[in-house]
Amino acid sequence: MPDLHSLSEILLSRPNKPVELLALMQLIQAKYRYLPEEALRELASYLKLPLSRVFAVAGFYKALSLTPKGEKLVKVCCGTACHLKGARQIQGALEEKLKIKLGETGADGKLSLESVNCVGACALAPVVMIDETVFGKTTPKNIGELPLLT
Ligand code: FES
Repeated sequence: MPDLHSLSEILLSRPNKPVELLALMQLIQAKYRYLPEEALRELASYLKLPLSRVFAVAGFYKALSLTPKGEKLVKVCCGTACHLKGARQIQGALEEKLKIKLGETGADGKLSLESVNCVGACALAPVVMIDETVFGKTTPKNIGELPLLT
């Protein structure tokens, strides 16, 4: 279990109103790279919400995770433009290079591989993102040149 000593600080940064649920989940996820069960229990208590509702919301949004993510997120865009320009091949090449499947995190906890829908850079399709940085015109061959993947 992660050290949750800063959880109180996160919770107290927002009013304890149910409407703050998603915002607080995003803050918790940003801090711990996932939503630890104990943090969700504290969150439910803070907002006076049923734990089942908190878990339901956590499971609904793709951007939220109940399992730890890697330190860096590698995202392959699977939007229409990227799909038409070979996103599947990029995904396959990334899986081979990183030795993890889409949706997984490496055993060392450094990288997670995810898919994302259009990131608004269709002219650069096919696109890969590493955290918030967009890399366009990727090919199965040139993905090995991306930072962190060399
Ligand atoms: S579909 Fe990939 S950036 Fe738009």
